[in-house]
Amino acid sequence: MKILVINGPNINMLGIREPGIYGKNTFADLLALLEQTAQEEGIEIEQYQSNHEGCLVDRIQVAYGKVDGIVINPAAYTHTSVAILDALKAVSIPAVEVHISDVDAREPFRQVSYAGLYCCKTIKGHGLEGYREAILYLKNNI
Ligand code: DQA
Repeated sequence: MKILVINGPNINMLGIREPGIYGKNTFADLLALLEQTAQEEGIEIEQYQSNHEGCLVDRIQVAYGKVDGIVINPAAYTHTSVAILDALKAVSIPAVEVHISDVDAREPFRQVSYAGLYCCKTIKGHGLEGYREAILYLKNNI
């Protein structure tokens, strides 16, 4: 089983950006968690991060026919990007949406998710652990 984990803009700034909201763990910590999860679960996990909407769309398209599931945190593009929603629909790969923070408890504009309209599940407010939960959900349900 192969799972692609996609992160959008500013997720590479974890540990530096707004630690009161996103915690003190760094992006490197997230990558280590993904690697550990892959080993523990005996699955292949590939990760991709970009600050650019079109690059995220390109990466989703490249995944067509090559991965079994996608875990995606589109970050700020969650709330704006019809292009990412359409890319997920185009490849039709089972996908789970993750948000490190509890977006529902924040500004009203963060409560709209375009990617979430496609995803079979959304995990929010569980910190980095949410990525592991999303991977396990895909492993057990696809
Ligand atoms: C986020 C929440 C988004 O609203 C925000 O723009 C992010 C991160 C999260 O993981 O909590 O960059 O997706």
